[in-house]
This record gives sequence, structure tokens and C-alpha cells, in this order.
Amino acid sequence: MKNSMKKIIDEKKQGETLVLDSKKENTRNLFIESYGCAMNFSDSEIVASILDKEGFNTTQNLEDADLVLVNTCSIRDKAEQTVRKRLQKYNAVKKINPGMKVGVLGCMAERLKEKFLEEEKIVDLVVGPDAYKDLPNLIKEVDDGRDAVNVILSKDETYGDIAPVRLGGNGVTAFVSITRGCDNMCTFCVVPFTRGRERSRDPVSILEEVNDLANKGYKEITLLGQNVDSYLWYGGGLKKDFKKASEIQKATATDFSQLLDLVATAQPKMRLRFSTSNPQDMAINVLHTMAKHKNICDYIHLPVQSGSTRILREMNRQHTREEYMELIDNIRKILPNCSISQDLITGFPTETEEDHQDTLSLMEYVKYDYGYMFAYSERPGTLAARKIEDDVPENIKKRRLAEIVALQRKHCAYRTEAFVGNTFEVLIEKESKKSNQHWAGRTSQNTMAVFPKEDYKVGEFVMVKITDCTSATLIGEGVGYSDNN
Ligand code: SAH
Ligand code: F3S
Repeated sequence: MKNSMKKIIDEKKQGETLVLDSKKENTRNLFIESYGCAMNFSDSEIVASILDKEGFNTTQNLEDADLVLVNTCSIRDKAEQTVRKRLQKYNAVKKINPGMKVGVLGCMAERLKEKFLEEEKIVDLVVGPDAYKDLPNLIKEVDDGRDAVNVILSKDETYGDIAPVRLGGNGVTAFVSITRGCDNMCTFCVVPFTRGRERSRDPVSILEEVNDLANKGYKEITLLGQNVDSYLWYGGGLKKDFKKASEIQKATATDFSQLLDLVATAQPKMRLRFSTSNPQDMAINVLHTMAKHKNICDYIHLPVQSGSTRILREMNRQHTREEYMELIDNIRKILPNCSISQDLITGFPTETEEDHQDTLSLMEYVKYDYGYMFAYSERPGTLAARKIEDDVPENIKKRRLAEIVALQRKHCAYRTEAFVGNTFEVLIEKESKKSNQHWAGRTSQNTMAVFPKEDYKVGEFVMVKITDCTSATLIGEGVGYSDNN
């Protein structure tokens, strides 16, 4: 478990506090922290941008905060429990700083709505993922002594016109949201309920954000969405609003592979990543676009959830085991150096030992570079919670989870070892956590590499000869600049 969990924590820096350079004219302090997916971290940057204009500086000290905002995750019960514990911590601080106000953002806000105010007395403000533009009004309500709630989900892309402030980042890599919400309705997943219907963002505003990041010196961006491959721009709003003129829209639409092509062409020196891909929506054109552009990274996060076609059907995933394998074959054919990672759930209701074996054998087939593995957690309101009994005992879920984690660890080591002896381009992101004499950065394949600092600097592309590795990290030495600088 440790490896996969560590990766999640490394990449998403759970509970990280975001800080912006303080502005003199701002008079109040905002402490904002984020849990869960990359989209939450990206949204917190939008929130900080909105509140900067309302006179809030960001602070790293909870004790100094006039306003505390926690951006929450509902994906599993454990994620919600983590937030509840944080609220207890805020409660303790409020005893010393009674003027402090506390707001809950994100998926838990959307899921629990007004109930939050009853269940957690510390909470003054509850704001869902589509309502952040209303924060200035809601804060005024709270200032006047009233609790404030806005959890209205929008039909339109919500924040395309807001330039996020880049908080707590390294100045090298950044997230850019391209879609909001999800229409897939996987039966285990709470996201369609907490983040609403799927909406794509205008490619013009995406390009503006990317160009702006390039001008500010960023070297890598990740296009974000719950399901990026279903990105489709044909004027905004929900797909169903456009049924009548569908032919015209198709002719003028931009799909995900076209968006990738646009962004990669506009900034050929910038590395481009995207997350997350749902196998059912990944078109072969996306693979061809990836192959066409050197700056699109050789990495696909391709959650499969289960290796059993029967369970996939129960999960409402729109592909079979065989179709998934065919997609893997195509990736290997079109992008021979591409790394692939997975999300997997063990112990989905009705999962048998045979289904579990199907998952293990699929993993053997793909030999994922790494993965994020979870025991099924029933989420209130989802179709699975309403229709199927959570009948796999906890100890069996845990044993199966341990088995897939052990196999993944073996595959991680297998994939990482294959890098040794070769030279790869690494984008320097930060100092290595283990040594102040070393830099850390990722290869195109998203594998972390560390190497001696020498005269190299953060933000530079360096060719690194890999001499050794642990199961998750490559160890090497710089052998010169890449021609991408
Ligand atoms: N498309 C999304 C998926 C969001 S959830 C994305 O952008 O990442 C991330 C992962 O959490 C899922 O792929 C799934 O493996 C896991 N997950 C979601 N709901 C779950 C549940 N109820 N129990 C256990 N794991 C879950
Ligand atoms: Fe959830 Fe499935 Fe969408 S996992 S986010 S409903 S693609």
C-alpha cells in the first residue's frame, strides 16, 4: 500500500496550505487548504483569486486566519472523515481566535448542503464547487452574523473567465481545467452528484490561460477534467441543449484530440499532460495526436476499476475487459514508450474470487507503471448504494486490496528498472526531499528522477542518464541540457 499511497500524497500534497504573496491593501487573512483530486487544488487557486479581490491575503498560519476554507473530497468515506478531523482542529483554534470564520468548499459541501451546519457547529459557510463566484456575497452574510449556503450546480462552464492565482506551486508545472462535472454515472461514484453535469470550457480561454502560463515561465501544464476525453466544445452549456442543431455543431466542434493539437501547437516548448481518461471515451485520434507532438508527454492515466467484464457492467463502465485490452494494445503500438497507470477498486458489491482473479490477470497483461488502488467504499445516493448490497466483507476487500497492491509494487519495480542504463529528458521541478544536493523532476513518462544539482536550475530540461532506481524513483546524473530549453 505504501508505494501507491505515497504517490498520491506526493502528487496531490493532501491538505496543503496555499499561500499567495501578501498585498498591502488586503486587510484580512485567508487560510485555505485542499483535499482530494487535482481539480480541488486547481479550484482553490480560483477561490484565492476571487477573494484576493475582496481584500484577503493568504496565510500559512491557521492561528492568524480571519477566514478558514477547506476544499473537501467525498470520493470515499475515509476522505470525509479526514475533513471532519480537520474541523475539530479548527474548533480548537477558534477557542483562541473567536473571530475566525470557517467555510467548507467542494464535494462534501455539495453532498451535505445545509446538513453541514447542523452536524458541525464550527461551520459558518457551505459553498459547492459551482458557487465560488458567490463567495463575496456569502462572506458578507457571514460578516453580518448569518450562516451562508450556496450549493447550486451550474449548467455552464463556471470559471473560464477567472485567472487563477498560482499558489504554493513551483513556478514550473500548473493545472488548467478544461471540463467540469461528469456525465458518466459510474455506479460507485459520487462525483456526478457533487460536481454536476459535464461542461467543456471554451478552447479560446484555455489557450489564453496556457499562453499566459508560458509567458510567466511555466514549462509543463496538465489539462484537467474528470473525464478529459469527452471534452467537446460547441458553444458551451450542456450537450442536451444543442440537440437540434447537432450537425452544424459537429462541423464546428472541438473535441479532445483537436484541443490537444491546438495547445501542443501553440506552445511547442511546453510539456503537456492530461488527466483523467476514461477508457470508454478515449478515441484513437488522441493517441495519434500524442504521437504527432513531441511535447505531449508519454503517459496516460487510464483507470480500469476492475478486470472483470461482469463487474465493469455492474459499475456502468461502458467497455469490456477485452475492449480495454485492445486499447492498451493500440497505445503500445502507436506510443511504444508510453507509461500507463491505473485506478482499481476491490470488493465492489458481488465481486467474486473469480472476478478478483480477472483483475490480477489484467494487471499482469498491462504491467502498469503505477496505480492507485482502493477498497470499495459505499457512497450515499449512488446507484450502487441504492441498488446493490455492499456484500463483500471488509476483511476480504482488504485481502484483495493487499494482493493487487503487492502485484502493482512488483510491476512498478519492473517498469522503473527498465529505465536504468538509458538517458531521459527530465524537467527540474524542485529540490529532492531526501537531499539538498539533488534536484527532482519527472520524465515524460511521469516517473520521478533525482540527480546531482551541479549548475542546473529549476525549470530547466536536462538529459539525465539513469544509473539506479528504487521501486518508484529513478536515480541518475545530468549529462547536459535537452534541446527543449
Ligand atoms: N474521473 C475521475 C475519477 C474520480 S475518482 C478522475 O479524474 O480521477 C478517482 C478514483 O477513485 C476512481 O477512479 C476510483 O478508482 C476511485 N473511487 C471512486 N469512487 C469510489 C468508491 N466509492 N469506493 C472506492 N473507490 C472509489
Ligand atoms: Fe466518477 Fe466515473 Fe465520472 S469514476 S468522475 S462517474 S467517469
